[in-house]
Amino acid sequence: MSDPGRDYETSLEPSRRRRDGVHYTPRVVADELVAGAFVGHGELIASGAQFVVCDPTCGAGVFLIAAADALVAGGRSPRSALECLRGMDIDPNALDVARAELTDWAQRNGLLGALPFALVVGDALNDPWPEDGRLDVVVGNPPFGGQLAGATIRDQAAVAGAARILGRPAGYTDTSGVLLVRALDAVRVGGSVVFVQPLSVLGARDGSTVRDLVGNALESIWIPDAQLFDAAVSVCAPVLRKPQHHEASSPAKTSPPWTELAADAMGVPPLRLTGEPLSSMAECTAGFRQEFYEVASAVIEGGSDPEIDTTLPRLVTVGLIDPATLLWGTRTAKVAGATYDRPLVDISKLSKPFLLRRRPKVLVATQTRVIEAVADHDGSLWPSVPVISVLPLDSDPEIIDLLVAALFAPPASVWAARLAAGTARSPGAIRLSASQLAHLPLPSDRDRWVEGARQLQDGELEAAAVTLTRAYGLEPDVAQAVLSWWIPRSIRAPKGTA
Ligand SMILES: C[S@@+](CC[C@H](N)C(=O)[O-])C[C@H]1O[C@@H](n2cnc3c(N)ncnc32)[C@H](O)[C@@H]1O
Repeated sequence: MSDPGRDYETSLEPSRRRRDGVHYTPRVVADELVAGAFVGHGELIASGAQFVVCDPTCGAGVFLIAAADALVAGGRSPRSALECLRGMDIDPNALDVARAELTDWAQRNGLLGALPFALVVGDALNDPWPEDGRLDVVVGNPPFGGQLAGATIRDQAAVAGAARILGRPAGYTDTSGVLLVRALDAVRVGGSVVFVQPLSVLGARDGSTVRDLVGNALESIWIPDAQLFDAAVSVCAPVLRKPQHHEASSPAKTSPPWTELAADAMGVPPLRLTGEPLSSMAECTAGFRQEFYEVASAVIEGGSDPEIDTTLPRLVTVGLIDPATLLWGTRTAKVAGATYDRPLVDISKLSKPFLLRRRPKVLVATQTRVIEAVADHDGSLWPSVPVISVLPLDSDPEIIDLLVAALFAPPASVWAARLAAGTARSPGAIRLSASQLAHLPLPSDRDRWVEGARQLQDGELEAAAVTLTRAYGLEPDVAQAVLSWWIPRSIRAPKGTA
């Protein structure tokens, strides 16, 4: 089937597409987001009274067409549906495509003669929006424009416009976030905004201004099941409704926090854990990036000299850690572009001894689907940055196995997934820092915890998961939800699905 929007997008020079963030939205996604934006407006739509929907960066108009269909489905005549739509874009040629698409839609819906389109060329950062301040719905996919480097850095006019919108210099705030704030300004009290954003808006420091400014309008967060755009950026869409007294709020006042709503959207079960924190038994540390490069240049391939193999520490990358299973020697490891079968660290090449690395400890991977941790009873493993080391405060050797069991426990992964939902590199992954991990609540039932640790050592992973979930003393339905979430993502998931 022909797709004029897609054809127009691919006809643009890649540099132009990058500069203006031109990544048109698939129709099914536009349908879903329009449906979300129309929640609570059904009566107004059916009444036939004035109702205005705007996409201020509409491109070829996919959201406008989706809205037209949803308005007709909601009880409007095709002509009345068209009268509700307002589109704006900085690119007049894109608006020509949108006009052609709407004309086609009108003809398919039996409309002849002059058509009530309202499509204007405009700069959403600096120009007034159609029906500014009185819109019922803003829905769309604004241009993403990271400010760290490259083609999307704002020019002078955009810097001024963004600062006016935020009421402060926009700094590193992504242009899509600036436009999210602007959209909330453009709707009436009770009006809705659903705007696609980079997933990083949920947790990254650069998204904090946006989270503060729209905080008390946030109702939910939509997260797609799959990667949507060629740009390879993971996305989400906050669903906002403008409250009576809309004002900038601090994240502390925002309830529930963005990551909690993201966790709900991703199907992570609700969970409150109250046990003693991991920091009561161990210290959590991770090396710095600089260490990664120094260690990378000291890595050698093992396997040729048995003495070297037993004296030098084995390097453990994130990829060599599975839940309670060390894959060193059975899977290759990539370190700074090179591949090793049995990576060892030649410590004589290091500028300092990094003594902590040689102690008994537990190693924890990051950016995984569940927490993955392995035991290092004799201090012979070397964590490759960003692997986290959990160093017991007590020298009792049994503590290592208890710590591995606590980290393996499904409630620990659910706790971590809720804490930082949506902030990892991919939406389904867990992103934990060493300092966050130190707050992990430990199991409260010591006997079950010990029993779970024993099952884990015997390789009974599924039984251990059940026992360790019980060790947290959860209500049966909560425990069931935790296990149902955890099991398919971990011990039954084929490797490589993260
Ligand atoms: C990510 S595309 C999305 C287009 C359309 N909303 C969709 O989802 O298919 C972003 C659009 O924003 C437009 N754009 C970029 N900067 C703009 C600005 N300052 N004001 C208005 N539109 C802009 C681009 O021309 C492009 O059509």
